[in-house]
Amino acid sequence: MDEPAIRRMPRAEVHVHLEGCFELADVAELARAAREPLPRPVAAALDADGPGGLAAFLRMLDWQCGLVRTAEQAARAAYRFAARETSSGVAYADLIVNPTHWTAWTGRVPALFEALAAGLDEAEQDGLAAVGLCPSLLRQQTAGQAADLVDWMVAARPRRVVALSVDGDERSAGRVSGRFAEAFARVGRAGFGRTVHAGESSGPEGVWDAITVLGADRIDHGIRCVDDPELVTRLAGQQLPLGVCPLSNIVLGVAPDRRSHPLDQLRRAGVPVSINTDDPAVLRYRNEQEWAQCAEAYGWGPEVVVEVARTSIVASFADADRRRALLAELDAYAAGPVASGGPADSGATAGSLRSVAP
Ligand code: ADE
Ligand code: ZN
Repeated sequence: MDEPAIRRMPRAEVHVHLEGCFELADVAELARAAREPLPRPVAAALDADGPGGLAAFLRMLDWQCGLVRTAEQAARAAYRFAARETSSGVAYADLIVNPTHWTAWTGRVPALFEALAAGLDEAEQDGLAAVGLCPSLLRQQTAGQAADLVDWMVAARPRRVVALSVDGDERSAGRVSGRFAEAFARVGRAGFGRTVHAGESSGPEGVWDAITVLGADRIDHGIRCVDDPELVTRLAGQQLPLGVCPLSNIVLGVAPDRRSHPLDQLRRAGVPVSINTDDPAVLRYRNEQEWAQCAEAYGWGPEVVVEVARTSIVASFADADRRRALLAELDAYAAGPVASGGPADSGATAGSLRSVAP
């Protein structure tokens, strides 16, 4: 399937960070407003594949997000995110926002999320993609900081907030062990989703922790589970979805290349996988590009691509009505000529997927 065909395919993105969605023009504009010089050379400074790997990349996100000082700027960033998703054909996104990167908002997390929700409301009113927010803990944070974030989520039930997340560098932060267990248990009891970065720079033990200690409903990345057959069986048996980001893994040195990336191996083992962009502006690519490149690298026909799109919707934290509606739209798409994005009659060679639509 080519990019235009994928753009037309109803689907969700479940693993993407607002911190990784600032285009160079956005950063330059924010730096000018903050009266801060852009690092030179600009392109190299904003590159994800610099020598410091994931840890250096996360420091760069701190600098970038630290430039967002006003509610209007935060709302604009959220609006532009929804526009980016829409132009890729993504109908719904779960958006991770880690307040520790947004240094101007320390102690004002509710105000940051209120501004983001306002930008997303405006976007949805304009017909752009719907977006749920996933406030994220940084792995290094304390149990007390986790409790504070959860206190706010549970008491305020902030608009558009759908889940608690944890992200950051597993290699330098080590295992979360029991540190976030209580916070995750409480947020789960309050009806929020739970999504955990694991098995990116950690091995399978990080994924085990996410399941058994944090009660994750979804794993972000999770690809190192492939090193533990028992874990793969568990994920498949429990139908616990992975939000996989192949290009991010390759650029950040977690996987050598697309062909040896375990995405398809895991899918064939019955693990629910979806395709996501993680930090698309910094990685300089688009959601539909990632889907098309996976389809090509793994030799997926339209049936498989549609199956993965179905997983993306089921794995999302969109409410049940939205998930149902999106699945119905995906069924309608699958019943038409799906393999090519060309004019309608070029679908004659593609055939329809009526057989896979319920
Ligand atoms: N925050 C933004 N991108 C991330 C990644 N790939 N891993 C962990 N934390 C992140
Ligand atoms: Zn991520």
